[in-house]
Amino acid sequence: MAAIIDGKAVSAATRANIAGEVSALKERGVSVGLAVIIVGDDPASRVYVNNKKKACAELGIYSEEYALPEQTTTEELLQLVGQLNARGDISGILCQLPLPRHIDETAVINAISAQKDVDAFHPQNVGHIMIGDYHFLPCTPAGVMRLLEYYNIDVCGKRCVVIGRSNIVGKPMAMLLLHSNATVTVCHSKTRDLAAICREADVIVAAVGRAGFVTADMVKEGAAVIDVGMNRDGNGKLCGDVDFDGVSAVAGYITPVPGGVGPMTITMLMENTVTAAKLQNGI
Ligand code: GUN
Repeated sequence: MAAIIDGKAVSAATRANIAGEVSALKERGVSVGLAVIIVGDDPASRVYVNNKKKACAELGIYSEEYALPEQTTTEELLQLVGQLNARGDISGILCQLPLPRHIDETAVINAISAQKDVDAFHPQNVGHIMIGDYHFLPCTPAGVMRLLEYYNIDVCGKRCVVIGRSNIVGKPMAMLLLHSNATVTVCHSKTRDLAAICREADVIVAAVGRAGFVTADMVKEGAAVIDVGMNRDGNGKLCGDVDFDGVSAVAGYITPVPGGVGPMTITMLMENTVTAAKLQNGI
């Protein structure tokens, strides 16, 4: 039976350290602030944004929310980003994705100052991550790496399979695993023999967006299975990409949903916000 990786506990321990840093910075007169932009009324985005604001409040980080109507134009959004880029009290800017289809998402991401890009989505920061010389952590992949480290799951020389190739999770996840000397395979919707590839893996990171996608027959005995999925099942209940009950019987470690990777993603965002404040103040 797999050991459960408790993302809430690791997150709480990490957040205690971040709160200490925020308070030390405040004593030095350094403001740590996050601006969160949300466009439209996607219910999942609303939940994520609320959780991000709640984490800021918990850690003493100042936050501002800009909830804009669905019909907001790219130009209006770029203007807001420009104003936030110029603000001394705003260390980080986050624009919740996905944006409505009529908005030029790339233009918005590129407009956020690279020094305030706490999501690490700006091409400049993506490049830094690729090279392995970066300030801002890609939040979800960094959260996964912290969980692996916390549970002493060393990936050096191991076979790691990432399922999903998104810019937010799959690609940066592969890079971080590679920087830790793992042998990394990235699988996606066109991959042939996915189950056979997964069965070779010591670590599987599932970022597919389909409930129950990873089943017990795809998992090697004792493997660590990390579930990045955030889906709703037939009853509207939150669930990941992994068939938790089936896979738990085979895996060595498994993350639950909720309570696994999710809390860590937000914690890494908080770390990035502190990093941004320090960078902007020459600390
Ligand atoms: N949408 C889904 N995940 C994320 C994330 O990590 N950051 C932002 N800005 N939008 C998202």
